Amino acid sequence: APSMRSLPDGDAELAGVSLMEIVRRFGTPTYVLDEAEVRRRCRAYRAALPNSDIMYAAKAFLCRAMASWVRSEGLGLDVCSGGELALALATGFPAARIVFHGNAKTPRELREAVDAGVGRIVIDNLAEINHLAALVPAGRRQKVLVRVIPDIEAGAYAAIRTGGEDQKFGLSMANGSAAEAVHRVLDQRGLELAGLHCHLGSQISEVEPYELAARTMVEQLARIRDTRGVALPELDLGGGHGIAYLHDERGLDLERFGATVRATVEERAAGLGLPVPRLIIEPGRAISGPAGVSLYRVIAIKRGVRRTFVAVDGGMSDHPRTSLYGARYATTMIGRLSTAGPRAVTVVGHHCESGDTIAEDAVLPADIRPGDVLAVAATGAYHHSMASTYNLTCRPPVVAVTGGQARVVVRREDQDDLMRRDVGL
Ligand code: LLP
Repeated sequence: APSMRSLPDGDAELAGVSLMEIVRRFGTPTYVLDEAEVRRRCRAYRAALPNSDIMYAAKAFLCRAMASWVRSEGLGLDVCSGGELALALATGFPAARIVFHGNAKTPRELREAVDAGVGRIVIDNLAEINHLAALVPAGRRQKVLVRVIPDIEAGAYAAIRTGGEDQKFGLSMANGSAAEAVHRVLDQRGLELAGLHCHLGSQISEVEPYELAARTMVEQLARIRDTRGVALPELDLGGGHGIAYLHDERGLDLERFGATVRATVEERAAGLGLPVPRLIIEPGRAISGPAGVSLYRVIAIKRGVRRTFVAVDGGMSDHPRTSLYGARYATTMIGRLSTAGPRAVTVVGHHCESGDTIAEDAVLPADIRPGDVLAVAATGAYHHSMASTYNLTCRPPVVAVTGGQARVVVRREDQDDLMRRDVGL
């Protein structure tokens, strides 16, 4: 992780806090999140995209503290469930700065979003247009965006690609449903069509797909102007910005992204005689991902016939992306110095499943032994938020570090929490 620094005694620090100290105080497994790094990333987005709205995608990681950090940095929030909305509202997040997503929003979620006064609701199917319009009180207009499939294939893993035609999100331009949605929204008195939305996928590290999306979407805005005579004021290009998980990897170049996308939108809009729409961007992973580190205790070492397994006290329940997508991570032993040479090992979890892997191809000191501590970098996005209680294991806490201080912002789950909903016979 960019902000994790090795110390001469074998320890490492994040934001001036010793990770071994965190292990001693809070135990393992634990997620650590560098607040200043989150804030730096928020500021970098605002600097790269002036006069735009940066809506942090809550699905990557959300808790009360996180909501307040991004809010104080001037970001809005992208939520995609009633739960994310409720948490945001509970922290006093201004509803007008929230965009609500979902391909299957329930009637209750739509009502909660309208009642709360959510700034934008993203239309993802034709049927929800009438449902939504019926929920808007007389005299009010709910701003909406229509989600369009840009038909661009990008992204690291098939499971998280959302730009192409054959997937469940968005409305197709090819079969006319996107245009149909636009017409229906424009014909609803209670709805105000603020603009169009698209999202290409996730963990995308090239600028070109976004450049193409920007051009395609401005052309769609021009088509709407041509057919209906309205120039929509907003263009939401979604999120999906890639980060570095491994030392030799590179994430999306934010400066280049900002400059290219803005220039593309401006040029294309000028060429088509359209006013330049206000940009909305929804980064999730790129805000919280690099700011997080997971800490584990090594429980067992096993030499197999083909490889050595290092088993830790967490696994696919708190680190799901390796088993789900085959994602790769950098692991480091911390807590002591070793003069032993490197050894290729597989870091696995404690769950009852052979695919329960944290890092397939880790390189750790050959004398790694039970009791050692492992730090896994870049786990601030899609770890805590995707954690499960599989095998009735308790989910780790989130410890925020800032200015040399550590504090729990989400406490560790305990066995009472796990049993609370089980009402018995
Ligand atoms: N906006 C929309 C409409 C989205 O669907 C997503 C992510 C984002 C923004 C934020 O994408 P980000 O900037 O974080 O890539 N669980 C997967 C990622 C799923 C992303 C789903 N949508 C993973 O762990 O890689």
